[in-house]
Amino acid sequence: MIDNNTIVRILQSIIDPGSGRDIISQRLVTNLKIDRNNVSFSLQMPKASMDDRSKVFMACEQKIKAEYPEAELDVHMETQQAAGTANSPLPQIKNIIAVASGKGGVGKSTVSLNLTQSLANMGFKVGIMDADLYGPSIPTMLGIADERPKVREIYGKHKLLPIEKNGIYAISIGNIIDAEQAVVLRGPRLGGIIKQFVYDCIWPDLDFLIIDLPPGTGDIQLTLVQSLAITGAVMVTTPQEVAIKDAVKAANMFLLPNVNVPILGVVENMSWFTPKEDPSKKYFIFGQGGGAKLANYCKTALLGQVPLVAEARESGDIGKIAINEVERFNSAFNSVRDTFLKQLAIRKEMLAPTKRVEMKN
Ligand SMILES: Nc1ncnc2c1ncn2[C@@H]1O[C@H](COP(=O)(O)OP(=O)(O)OP(=O)(O)O)[C@@H](O)[C@H]1O
Ligand SMILES: [Mg+2]
Repeated sequence: MIDNNTIVRILQSIIDPGSGRDIISQRLVTNLKIDRNNVSFSLQMPKASMDDRSKVFMACEQKIKAEYPEAELDVHMETQQAAGTANSPLPQIKNIIAVASGKGGVGKSTVSLNLTQSLANMGFKVGIMDADLYGPSIPTMLGIADERPKVREIYGKHKLLPIEKNGIYAISIGNIIDAEQAVVLRGPRLGGIIKQFVYDCIWPDLDFLIIDLPPGTGDIQLTLVQSLAITGAVMVTTPQEVAIKDAVKAANMFLLPNVNVPILGVVENMSWFTPKEDPSKKYFIFGQGGGAKLANYCKTALLGQVPLVAEARESGDIGKIAINEVERFNSAFNSVRDTFLKQLAIRKEMLAPTKRVEMKN
Protein backbone atom coordinates (compact mmCIF):
# COMPACT_ATOMS: atom_id res chain seq x y z
CA MET A 1 0.00 0.00 0.00
CA ILE A 2 1.35 3.40 -0.92
CA ASP A 3 0.94 5.70 2.02
CA ASN A 4 0.03 9.35 1.63
CA ASN A 5 2.18 10.57 4.51
CA THR A 6 5.22 8.72 3.25
CA ILE A 7 4.84 10.34 -0.17
CA VAL A 8 4.61 13.78 1.45
CA ARG A 9 7.70 13.00 3.52
CA ILE A 10 9.60 11.96 0.39
CA LEU A 11 8.54 15.14 -1.41
CA GLN A 12 9.67 17.16 1.61
CA SER A 13 13.19 15.89 1.00
CA ILE A 14 13.26 17.34 -2.52
CA ILE A 15 14.71 20.80 -2.86
CA ASP A 16 13.41 23.44 -5.26
CA PRO A 17 16.53 24.87 -6.96
CA GLY A 18 14.88 28.29 -7.18
CA SER A 19 14.30 28.95 -3.48
CA GLY A 20 16.61 26.36 -1.93
CA ARG A 21 13.66 25.10 0.13
CA ASP A 22 11.76 21.84 -0.12
CA ILE A 23 8.96 21.63 -2.66
CA ILE A 24 6.26 20.99 -0.04
CA SER A 25 6.96 24.00 2.17
CA GLN A 26 7.50 26.07 -0.98
CA ARG A 27 3.92 25.02 -1.92
CA LEU A 28 4.92 23.71 -5.34
CA VAL A 29 3.00 20.42 -5.06
CA THR A 30 -0.75 20.50 -5.68
CA ASN A 31 -3.49 17.94 -6.40
CA LEU A 32 -1.67 15.03 -4.80
CA LYS A 33 -3.75 11.88 -5.39
CA ILE A 34 -2.93 8.31 -4.51
CA ASP A 35 -5.03 5.51 -5.86
CA ARG A 36 -3.57 2.02 -5.26
CA ASN A 37 -0.26 2.13 -7.22
CA ASN A 38 -1.00 5.39 -8.99
CA VAL A 39 0.59 8.50 -7.56
CA SER A 40 -0.27 11.75 -9.31
CA PHE A 41 0.40 15.37 -8.52
CA SER A 42 1.11 18.72 -10.18
CA LEU A 43 4.30 20.70 -9.82
CA GLN A 44 3.77 24.45 -9.90
CA MET A 45 7.00 25.74 -11.38
CA PRO A 46 5.84 28.00 -14.21
CA LYS A 47 8.74 30.44 -13.84
CA ALA A 48 11.53 27.84 -13.44
CA SER A 49 13.96 26.96 -16.24
CA MET A 50 13.56 23.66 -18.12
CA ASP A 51 16.72 22.47 -16.42
CA ASP A 52 15.41 23.13 -12.90
CA ARG A 53 12.06 21.57 -13.70
CA SER A 54 13.63 18.38 -14.98
CA LYS A 55 15.93 18.17 -11.93
CA VAL A 56 12.94 18.32 -9.60
CA PHE A 57 10.95 15.93 -11.76
CA MET A 58 13.76 13.37 -11.79
CA ALA A 59 14.33 13.69 -8.06
CA CYS A 60 10.62 13.00 -7.44
CA GLU A 61 10.68 9.98 -9.68
CA GLN A 62 13.88 8.50 -8.23
CA LYS A 63 12.94 8.96 -4.59
CA ILE A 64 9.38 7.69 -4.91
CA LYS A 65 10.52 4.64 -6.94
CA ALA A 66 13.21 3.89 -4.38
CA GLU A 67 10.57 3.63 -1.65
CA TYR A 68 7.79 2.17 -3.82
CA PRO A 69 9.17 0.36 -6.91
CA GLU A 70 5.61 -0.56 -7.87
CA ALA A 71 4.47 3.10 -8.03
CA GLU A 72 3.03 4.41 -11.29
CA LEU A 73 3.88 8.09 -11.38
CA ASP A 74 1.96 10.81 -13.14
CA VAL A 75 3.57 14.19 -12.50
CA HIS A 76 1.96 17.12 -14.23
CA MET A 77 4.22 20.11 -14.82
CA GLU A 78 2.19 23.32 -14.62
CA THR A 79 3.25 25.87 -17.17
CA GLN A 80 0.67 28.45 -16.09
CA GLN A 81 0.35 30.16 -12.75
CA ALA A 82 -2.37 28.29 -10.87
CA ALA A 83 -5.34 30.43 -9.86
CA GLY A 84 -5.08 31.56 -6.25
CA THR A 85 -1.35 30.95 -5.86
CA ALA A 86 0.75 33.98 -5.07
CA ASN A 87 3.02 35.26 -7.80
CA SER A 88 5.62 36.21 -5.21
CA PRO A 89 9.02 34.54 -5.50
CA LEU A 90 8.97 34.30 -1.67
CA PRO A 91 5.63 32.66 -0.86
CA GLN A 92 6.97 31.59 2.55
CA ILE A 93 7.04 35.25 3.64
CA LYS A 94 3.67 36.59 4.70
CA ASN A 95 4.39 40.32 4.63
CA ILE A 96 7.13 42.19 2.79
CA ILE A 97 7.48 45.76 4.00
CA ALA A 98 9.68 48.40 2.35
CA VAL A 99 11.02 51.21 4.52
CA ALA A 100 11.78 54.26 2.40
CA SER A 101 12.63 57.95 2.60
CA GLY A 102 13.41 60.78 0.25
CA LYS A 103 16.48 62.10 2.03
CA GLY A 104 19.41 60.16 3.43
CA GLY A 105 20.22 60.11 7.10
CA VAL A 106 16.66 60.55 8.38
CA GLY A 107 16.73 57.20 10.20
CA LYS A 108 15.46 54.54 7.77
CA SER A 109 17.91 51.94 9.04
CA THR A 110 17.16 52.83 12.65
CA VAL A 111 13.41 52.58 12.03
CA SER A 112 13.74 49.38 9.95
CA LEU A 113 15.79 47.57 12.56
CA ASN A 114 13.93 48.74 15.65
CA LEU A 115 10.54 48.00 14.07
CA THR A 116 11.84 44.55 13.09
CA GLN A 117 13.07 43.92 16.64
CA SER A 118 9.82 45.20 18.08
CA LEU A 119 7.90 42.69 15.92
CA ALA A 120 10.32 39.92 16.96
CA ASN A 121 9.82 40.82 20.63
CA MET A 122 6.09 40.19 20.08
CA GLY A 123 6.85 36.67 18.84
CA PHE A 124 6.70 37.22 15.09
CA LYS A 125 9.26 35.53 12.84
CA VAL A 126 11.13 38.34 11.14
CA GLY A 127 13.87 39.13 8.68
CA ILE A 128 15.60 42.22 7.38
CA MET A 129 17.00 42.82 3.92
CA ASP A 130 19.55 45.64 3.78
CA ALA A 131 18.95 46.97 0.29
CA ASP A 132 21.23 49.94 0.84
CA LEU A 133 24.13 48.63 -1.21
CA TYR A 134 26.23 51.83 -1.05
CA GLY A 135 25.85 52.44 2.66
CA PRO A 136 24.88 49.20 4.37
CA SER A 137 24.39 49.94 8.07
CA ILE A 138 22.46 46.89 9.27
CA PRO A 139 25.56 44.72 9.96
CA THR A 140 26.98 47.31 12.39
CA MET A 141 23.63 48.12 14.01
CA LEU A 142 22.75 44.45 14.46
CA GLY A 143 26.25 43.58 15.66
CA ILE A 144 27.05 41.11 12.88
CA ALA A 145 29.65 43.15 11.01
CA ASP A 146 32.29 40.42 11.19
CA GLU A 147 30.03 37.55 10.18
CA ARG A 148 29.68 36.00 6.74
CA PRO A 149 26.49 34.30 5.54
CA LYS A 150 26.79 30.53 5.20
CA VAL A 151 26.64 29.16 1.69
CA ARG A 152 24.76 26.01 0.77
CA GLU A 153 25.13 24.20 -2.52
CA ILE A 154 21.89 23.11 -4.16
CA TYR A 155 22.03 21.18 -7.45
CA GLY A 156 25.43 22.73 -8.04
CA LYS A 157 24.29 26.33 -7.41
CA HIS A 158 25.31 28.38 -4.39
CA LYS A 159 22.67 29.83 -2.08
CA LEU A 160 23.14 32.21 0.85
CA LEU A 161 21.70 31.64 4.31
CA PRO A 162 20.70 34.88 6.08
CA ILE A 163 22.59 35.50 9.35
CA GLU A 164 20.48 35.09 12.49
CA LYS A 165 20.83 37.43 15.46
CA ASN A 166 18.30 38.26 18.22
CA GLY A 167 15.67 36.26 16.30
CA ILE A 168 16.20 38.43 13.20
CA TYR A 169 17.33 36.89 9.89
CA ALA A 170 19.47 39.41 8.06
CA ILE A 171 21.14 39.75 4.70
CA SER A 172 23.36 42.69 3.75
CA ILE A 173 26.03 43.43 1.18
CA GLY A 174 28.11 44.57 4.18
CA ASN A 175 28.47 40.93 5.24
CA ILE A 176 29.54 39.85 1.77
CA ILE A 177 32.04 42.42 0.52
CA ASP A 178 34.02 45.24 2.11
CA ALA A 179 32.39 48.66 2.22
CA GLU A 180 35.14 50.13 0.00
CA GLN A 181 34.31 47.59 -2.70
CA ALA A 182 30.60 48.37 -2.58
CA VAL A 183 31.04 51.96 -3.78
CA VAL A 184 32.31 50.83 -7.18
CA LEU A 185 29.17 48.82 -7.94
CA ARG A 186 27.13 50.28 -10.78
CA GLY A 187 23.56 50.08 -12.09
CA PRO A 188 23.08 46.57 -13.52
CA ARG A 189 25.34 44.99 -10.90
CA LEU A 190 23.29 46.60 -8.12
CA GLY A 191 20.11 45.14 -9.56
CA GLY A 192 21.82 41.77 -9.83
CA ILE A 193 22.76 41.79 -6.15
CA ILE A 194 19.24 42.73 -5.08
CA LYS A 195 17.91 39.88 -7.22
CA GLN A 196 20.34 37.54 -5.47
CA PHE A 197 18.99 38.70 -2.09
CA VAL A 198 15.60 37.57 -3.34
CA TYR A 199 16.32 34.51 -5.48
CA ASP A 200 19.63 33.16 -4.17
CA CYS A 201 18.92 33.37 -0.46
CA ILE A 202 17.29 30.63 1.53
CA TRP A 203 14.75 32.66 3.51
CA PRO A 204 12.90 30.74 6.22
CA ASP A 205 9.15 31.02 6.86
CA LEU A 206 8.66 34.59 8.04
CA ASP A 207 5.77 36.73 9.18
CA PHE A 208 7.64 39.87 8.15
CA LEU A 209 10.53 40.74 5.90
CA ILE A 210 11.49 44.38 6.37
CA ILE A 211 13.48 45.97 3.55
CA ASP A 212 15.77 48.86 4.46
CA LEU A 213 15.91 50.83 1.21
CA PRO A 214 18.54 53.36 0.15
CA PRO A 215 17.25 56.95 0.07
CA GLY A 216 15.40 58.26 -2.98
CA THR A 217 13.97 56.56 -6.02
CA GLY A 218 16.77 54.85 -7.94
CA ASP A 219 17.44 51.56 -9.71
CA ILE A 220 17.49 49.50 -6.52
CA GLN A 221 14.03 50.58 -5.45
CA LEU A 222 12.69 49.88 -8.92
CA THR A 223 14.29 46.44 -9.11
CA LEU A 224 12.72 45.57 -5.79
CA VAL A 225 9.20 46.57 -6.63
CA GLN A 226 9.65 44.68 -9.88
CA SER A 227 10.90 41.46 -8.34
CA LEU A 228 8.82 41.27 -5.14
CA ALA A 229 5.17 41.61 -4.31
CA ILE A 230 5.62 44.25 -1.60
CA THR A 231 2.75 44.28 0.89
CA GLY A 232 3.20 47.91 1.85
CA ALA A 233 5.66 50.73 2.38
CA VAL A 234 6.57 52.72 5.47
CA MET A 235 7.93 56.23 4.89
CA VAL A 236 10.41 57.80 7.27
CA THR A 237 10.87 61.54 7.56
CA THR A 238 12.16 64.15 9.98
CA PRO A 239 9.78 66.97 10.94
CA GLN A 240 11.37 69.60 8.71
CA GLU A 241 10.07 70.94 5.42
CA VAL A 242 12.96 69.93 3.09
CA ALA A 243 12.82 66.31 4.23
CA ILE A 244 9.14 66.19 3.32
CA LYS A 245 9.59 67.55 -0.20
CA ASP A 246 11.94 64.65 -0.97
CA ALA A 247 9.77 62.15 0.89
CA VAL A 248 6.80 63.07 -1.30
CA LYS A 249 8.86 62.15 -4.38
CA ALA A 250 9.77 58.78 -2.85
CA ALA A 251 6.15 58.17 -1.85
CA ASN A 252 5.01 58.92 -5.39
CA MET A 253 7.10 56.03 -6.70
CA PHE A 254 5.04 53.55 -4.67
CA LEU A 255 1.81 55.18 -5.77
CA LEU A 256 2.57 54.95 -9.53
CA PRO A 257 -0.31 53.10 -11.20
CA ASN A 258 1.92 50.25 -12.40
CA VAL A 259 3.69 49.88 -9.03
CA ASN A 260 0.75 50.39 -6.71
CA VAL A 261 2.29 49.54 -3.35
CA PRO A 262 0.10 50.96 -0.56
CA ILE A 263 1.78 53.28 1.93
CA LEU A 264 0.93 51.88 5.35
CA GLY A 265 2.10 54.91 7.22
CA VAL A 266 4.72 57.50 8.10
CA VAL A 267 7.21 57.42 10.94
CA GLU A 268 8.41 60.84 12.02
CA ASN A 269 11.92 60.41 13.39
CA MET A 270 13.94 62.82 15.51
CA SER A 271 10.68 64.55 16.41
CA TRP A 272 12.11 66.21 19.51
CA PHE A 273 14.96 66.06 21.93
CA THR A 274 14.46 65.62 25.66
CA PRO A 275 17.45 66.19 27.93
CA LYS A 276 18.12 63.43 30.44
CA GLU A 277 18.15 65.96 33.30
CA ASP A 278 14.63 67.23 32.57
CA PRO A 279 12.34 64.65 30.95
CA SER A 280 9.42 67.10 30.93
CA LYS A 281 11.10 69.30 28.29
CA LYS A 282 10.82 68.77 24.54
CA TYR A 283 13.07 70.68 22.13
CA PHE A 284 11.79 70.61 18.55
CA ILE A 285 15.20 70.84 16.90
CA PHE A 286 14.05 69.98 13.37
CA GLY A 287 10.74 71.82 13.46
CA GLN A 288 7.32 70.30 13.87
CA GLY A 289 4.49 68.69 11.98
CA GLY A 290 6.37 67.11 9.06
CA GLY A 291 5.24 63.55 9.72
CA ALA A 292 1.57 64.48 9.91
CA LYS A 293 1.89 66.57 6.75
CA LEU A 294 3.46 63.70 4.78
CA ALA A 295 0.88 61.23 6.09
CA ASN A 296 -1.84 63.59 5.00
CA TYR A 297 -0.31 63.96 1.53
CA CYS A 298 -0.05 60.16 1.14
CA LYS A 299 -3.58 59.69 2.55
CA THR A 300 -2.17 57.43 5.21
CA ALA A 301 -1.60 57.36 8.97
CA LEU A 302 1.14 58.80 11.13
CA LEU A 303 2.48 55.61 12.72
CA GLY A 304 4.27 57.49 15.45
CA GLN A 305 6.91 59.99 16.48
CA VAL A 306 10.34 58.83 17.57
CA PRO A 307 12.37 61.19 19.77
CA LEU A 308 16.03 61.96 19.33
CA VAL A 309 17.81 59.90 21.98
CA ALA A 310 21.59 60.01 22.22
CA GLU A 311 21.81 56.54 23.78
CA ALA A 312 19.88 55.16 20.80
CA ARG A 313 22.65 56.20 18.43
CA GLU A 314 25.28 54.91 20.82
CA SER A 315 23.69 51.46 20.98
CA GLY A 316 23.45 51.29 17.18
CA ASP A 317 27.15 52.07 16.89
CA ILE A 318 28.08 49.12 19.10
CA GLY A 319 25.69 46.61 17.57
CA LYS A 320 22.97 46.76 20.19
CA ILE A 321 19.41 47.38 19.21
CA ALA A 322 18.20 50.60 20.77
CA ILE A 323 14.72 49.45 21.85
CA ASN A 324 16.31 46.64 23.88
CA GLU A 325 18.52 49.16 25.68
CA VAL A 326 16.59 52.41 26.04
CA GLU A 327 13.08 52.35 27.52
CA ARG A 328 12.03 55.72 26.02
CA PHE A 329 12.94 54.41 22.62
CA ASN A 330 11.17 51.12 23.23
CA SER A 331 7.88 52.77 24.16
CA ALA A 332 8.04 55.02 21.07
CA PHE A 333 8.54 51.96 18.87
CA ASN A 334 5.81 49.94 20.59
CA SER A 335 3.32 52.55 19.57
CA VAL A 336 4.77 52.74 16.01
CA ARG A 337 4.46 48.95 15.79
CA ASP A 338 0.90 48.83 17.11
CA THR A 339 -0.34 51.45 14.66
CA PHE A 340 1.62 49.70 11.89
CA LEU A 341 -0.13 46.39 12.67
CA LYS A 342 -3.51 48.14 12.67
CA GLN A 343 -2.78 49.75 9.31
CA LEU A 344 -1.69 46.39 7.92
CA ALA A 345 -4.93 44.78 9.04
CA ILE A 346 -6.90 47.54 7.33
CA ARG A 347 -4.84 47.14 4.18
CA LYS A 348 -5.58 43.41 4.04
CA GLU A 349 -9.26 44.10 4.53
CA MET A 350 -9.46 46.74 1.80
CA LEU A 351 -7.03 45.87 -0.97
CA ALA A 352 -6.10 42.89 -3.13
CA PRO A 353 -2.57 41.50 -2.63
CA THR A 354 0.11 43.51 -4.40
CA LYS A 355 1.10 41.99 -7.71
CA ARG A 356 4.64 41.94 -8.92
CA VAL A 357 5.18 44.52 -11.62
CA GLU A 358 5.01 42.50 -14.83
CA MET A 359 7.72 43.55 -17.24
CA LYS A 360 6.94 43.63 -20.93
CA ASN A 361 10.05 42.50 -22.75
N1 LIG B 1 15.80 58.80 16.95
C1 LIG B 1 17.12 58.83 16.95
N2 LIG B 1 17.83 59.20 18.04
C2 LIG B 1 19.18 59.25 18.03
N3 LIG B 1 19.92 58.94 16.95
C3 LIG B 1 19.28 58.57 15.83
C4 LIG B 1 17.86 58.47 15.77
N4 LIG B 1 17.52 58.05 14.52
C5 LIG B 1 18.67 57.90 13.85
N5 LIG B 1 19.72 58.19 14.62
C6 LIG B 1 21.15 58.18 14.25
O1 LIG B 1 21.29 58.98 13.07
C7 LIG B 1 22.16 58.38 12.13
C8 LIG B 1 21.43 58.13 10.81
O2 LIG B 1 20.39 57.19 11.03
P1 LIG B 1 20.15 55.98 10.03
O3 LIG B 1 21.42 55.36 9.63
O4 LIG B 1 19.10 55.13 10.63
O5 LIG B 1 19.54 56.81 8.81
P2 LIG B 1 19.28 56.35 7.31
O6 LIG B 1 18.11 57.13 6.83
O7 LIG B 1 19.21 54.89 7.22
O8 LIG B 1 20.59 56.87 6.62
P3 LIG B 1 21.13 56.51 5.16
O9 LIG B 1 20.33 57.35 4.23
O10 LIG B 1 22.57 56.89 5.22
O11 LIG B 1 20.90 55.04 4.95
C9 LIG B 1 22.66 57.10 12.79
O12 LIG B 1 23.87 57.36 13.41
C10 LIG B 1 21.59 56.79 13.85
O13 LIG B 1 22.12 56.09 14.96
MG1 LIG C 1 20.36 53.49 6.11
